[in-house]
Amino acid sequence: MKVLVTGGLGFIGSHTCVELLNSGYEVVIVDNLSNSSIDVLEKIEEITSKRPKFYDIDVCDKEEVKKVFRVNKIDAVIHFAGYKAVGESVREPLKYYRNNLDSTLTLLEVMKKENCHNFVFSSSATVYGNPKELPIKEDFPLSTTNPYGTTKLMIERILADLSKADKEMSIIVLRYFNPIGAHKSGLLGENPRGIPNNLMPYIVRVATKELEMLSVFGNDYDTHDGTGVRDYIHVVDLAKGHIKALEKCVRFKGIEYYNLGTGTGYSVLDLVKTFEEVNNVKVPYKIVDRRPGDIDACYADPGKAYEEIGFKAELGIEDMCRESYNYILKNKSD
Ligand code: WQD
Repeated sequence: MKVLVTGGLGFIGSHTCVELLNSGYEVVIVDNLSNSSIDVLEKIEEITSKRPKFYDIDVCDKEEVKKVFRVNKIDAVIHFAGYKAVGESVREPLKYYRNNLDSTLTLLEVMKKENCHNFVFSSSATVYGNPKELPIKEDFPLSTTNPYGTTKLMIERILADLSKADKEMSIIVLRYFNPIGAHKSGLLGENPRGIPNNLMPYIVRVATKELEMLSVFGNDYDTHDGTGVRDYIHVVDLAKGHIKALEKCVRFKGIEYYNLGTGTGYSVLDLVKTFEEVNNVKVPYKIVDRRPGDIDACYADPGKAYEEIGFKAELGIEDMCRESYNYILKNKSD
């Protein structure tokens, strides 16, 4: 079975391509390299001894997307491509709406023309907004507080309407909690350009002394130690969740939603302490004001994904801390 992976050279996309190839799928990657680099393709080949077909194209470019479908008989699509920085989306909403919506609509229109009905969409727990209770189930109310999250919610609405109109479509929406960690080989991982927005990439840069100190955004939240609690899931577990989703996607018609999380929440200080212990390093930090838009706590009820697609995260917070650091040590440009 041939799977088109958009954004397949990105952090989650590349780890998913590895799991797809290791599971015997044929993989075709489209990526415009706006937030990834071509050397990831070599790393995927080094890990799997298979080289996916790669097209350096923008998914908003309909003619180019059509060519990919014309040259390759695509059986299913996993759609990762999209801008994903919350802060940037607040500063540049039009860029986010244009790119994230346009790319998805283009892809869906070409899929329809090319008779491709299987679609796995990379959504986010951010669509739950600030949940009234925990753990979060898939039928909880949806609301968003930033343009990035709103693009995800809008695309979910588009997919729900498409599913009603086109009974041939099989759509799986995966709502990721907080993906961190890296492939155990140290060949793939997360290394955002510039100053990291997210917690784990920032911790790693402080541990390697590239950055001086971690700013902990608030310690007056309604959590066990006052710092923000999140459901961190290992990116390799997340990748494996896509294989489970794909297996379901080709067996049913309609649309289904699954949380991909571990069901366990860890605070900022929990993560710092675990990272220091596992890697035997110091991560100096200071408590500063809350970051606007942050919520107290967010973690998944992973039960539906387990019951319906047989997905259960296996790797723990120690693995995530160890492999995040291992990746950077192996890829630090001295
Ligand atoms: C985690 C915790 C911060 C940085 C975001 C997006 C979400 C998804 C994952 C795309 C919070 C605290 C962080 C720092 C800190 N991305 N923190 N100091 O905000 O839960 O989720 O990334 O899908 O959509 O919203 O992740 O890693 O930014 O923050 O104290 O320098 O760490 O306050 O409690 P977040 P995060």
